[in-house]
Amino acid sequence: MKTVNCDSLGKSHKKLIAAAEAVMKTSYSPYSGFAVGAALMTLRGRIVTGSNVENAAYGLTICAERAALVRANAMGERVFSSLAVVAGFGVTSPCGACRQMLHESAQNAGHDIEVILLSADRKTVVLTSISELLPLGFGGKMKK
Ligand code: THU
Repeated sequence: MKTVNCDSLGKSHKKLIAAAEAVMKTSYSPYSGFAVGAALMTLRGRIVTGSNVENAAYGLTICAERAALVRANAMGERVFSSLAVVAGFGVTSPCGACRQMLHESAQNAGHDIEVILLSADRKTVVLTSISELLPLGFGGKMKK
């Protein structure tokens, strides 16, 4: 895990970040007021986004990361190189449920997912990976 300056990132990372920022605006988060945007980059360079969706029955909430993953699956995309996550305030890191789903995706694809976490003002950017966020994760390695 390392903290980097946003300006030091390459073009494709910046594009992914911009996509996460854009989709964050679609967040439906009237209960927490905490908007999150996530953008996955496929190995082929396609970007798939998701934002968090809450519900009056709080436990039904879907995080931005899982929203992006299920959307990608429906688009036939299951192999990712990177994920950018931006939050309305501060820097947020994927919850346990999202880590587990990202872990299985990475295991099945045979490709670790680089994770970029950043604040809405881009002042704090953390680079990590799903293998680092969920060491010794359960399951995965099924074939597509
Ligand atoms: N949330 C995400 O979408 N992603 C995260 O990484 C952490 C939390 C959402 C779920 C809920 O809608 C709100 O943030 C507050 O927990």
